[in-house]
Amino acid sequence: MTDPLHSDLLDLAQEAARRAGALLKDGRPADLAVARTKSSPIDVVTEMDIAAEKLITDLISEHRPDDGFLGEEGASTEGTSGIRWVIDPLDGTVNYLYGLPTWAVSVAAEQDGETVVGVVAAPMRGETFHAVRGGGAWATGAWDGERRLACRPAPPLEQALVSTGFNYVAEVRTHQADVARKLIPLLRDIRRGGSAAVDLCDVAAGRLDGYYERGLHPWDLAAGDLIAREAGALTGGRPGERPAHGLTVAGTPGVFEPLQRLLEDFGAWHD
Ligand code: IPD
Ligand code: CA
Ligand code: CA
Repeated sequence: MTDPLHSDLLDLAQEAARRAGALLKDGRPADLAVARTKSSPIDVVTEMDIAAEKLITDLISEHRPDDGFLGEEGASTEGTSGIRWVIDPLDGTVNYLYGLPTWAVSVAAEQDGETVVGVVAAPMRGETFHAVRGGGAWATGAWDGERRLACRPAPPLEQALVSTGFNYVAEVRTHQADVARKLIPLLRDIRRGGSAAVDLCDVAAGRLDGYYERGLHPWDLAAGDLIAREAGALTGGRPGERPAHGLTVAGTPGVFEPLQRLLEDFGAWHD
């Protein structure tokens, strides 16, 4: 049975992601511009990233004033309830800026440091993914109602479809390209979707066999990692470690392990 607190957190996360998704989809200005840049000139923030984070934190604070926040656009409070919300208001900003459809709102709730609820809304796909720890992973689509997610049965690694992402910092991207060059002859193919949260949900939904990336932040992966694990995928960082900024790997069992070993051999992580 689901913990009633977790059910309440899920309801709130779904409502926040739904409202932020609607704001982003319906409120995207035709002349959307870059508001500022972060780690490099191509790491951009738009006014919509900022507005979506405010919408989410305002809504959650109204219902749960004692919770903490960690949001990509600056929300950072400790809180006193033991619950902290980890939010990427717009994951896939470059896609959003260009009008490409792969972007998402990612909202996760942690209890005493463990993710217990994750919601990823992908409005242009008409799909929202969610998971509560121990309760499986689910997707709600505009066209097919709610369905339980399960990752794919593993193919041999050479037939695995694996997604990745590239960092905004040029030296990191160059290193990532070297790793991808070594991997690509050993796999079916590589994808670069542009939203880490969607990549993790696509592993959960059986649309990818695996995913890896160096340089993710907690808000990129908190919700998607829980959704992938609740769908039966394995996730980690370097062998024996949890997903981290240094390396995140996710995959269906049977693909995860050899992929993680190859990434270790190819030096795909950083400290
Ligand atoms: C980015 C996306 C992208 C990944 C980057 C992330 P943002 O998040 O998830 O797929 O490759 O590492 O920073 O900047 O669009 O929120
Ligand atoms: Ca992100
Ligand atoms: Ca973002």
